[in-house]
Amino acid sequence: MEKPAINQYPIHELIKQRWSPVAFNNRPIEATKVASLLEAARWAASCFNEQPWSFIVATQDNSQEYNKLLSCLVEANQKWAKDAPLLILSVAKLTFEHNGKPNRHAWHDVGLALGNLTLQAQSFGLFVHQMAGFDGDKARSLYNIPQNYEPVTALAVGYPGNASQLAPDLAERQLSPRTRKPFSDFVFRDRWGESYL
Ligand SMILES: Cc1cc2nc3c(=O)[nH]c(=O)nc-3n(C[C@H](O)[C@H](O)[C@H](O)COP(=O)(O)O)c2cc1C
Repeated sequence: MEKPAINQYPIHELIKQRWSPVAFNNRPIEATKVASLLEAARWAASCFNEQPWSFIVATQDNSQEYNKLLSCLVEANQKWAKDAPLLILSVAKLTFEHNGKPNRHAWHDVGLALGNLTLQAQSFGLFVHQMAGFDGDKARSLYNIPQNYEPVTALAVGYPGNASQLAPDLAERQLSPRTRKPFSDFVFRDRWGESYL
């Protein structure tokens, strides 16, 4: 199922076609493709080239590892994410390696890496649905995540599924239109609030 961006100006096809489905096909993702997703993330820009990202990866073919990561998600997310063959937890290192000071851009840089990963996935016909809805304390405890690291997002990744496999409330979400704010709300010139586009 497609839900392309209704863009006012031309954008790359991968950006146009990306969206966050709740219906996933549980067809396994080829291991080489999983590796390419992580390679794409690895080559993101980052402040001081700190590369503050870490990823915990779980695939459905290893049910013990998969259920461990799935159990960190809030129930509302587990309901649909359980069909995705690949789950990932992204983690930010909050301090710089070179001086131990706080890295104010750690979360930003994890986001950049995930942006790369998401578009690389799209190029394979894979979809990514990111989630804030997970229990960070549980993840920290289950995976022994050190104190100066912080779980950022959970990701469900997979080939697209069908709305017909979903409960009615989720099917409605799967089929609902995508919306965006107008440019005038967030692109400014000269002073805050003065529209550029
Ligand atoms: C950081 C982040 C956290 C999100 N958390 C959740 C979540 O917990 N559950 C969920 O269903 N969707 C979650 N989403 C998906 C957003 O709702 C979705 O990206 C947004 O509605 C725009 O839709 P689109 O990605 O299809 O364009 C999250 C997305 C991001 C980037």
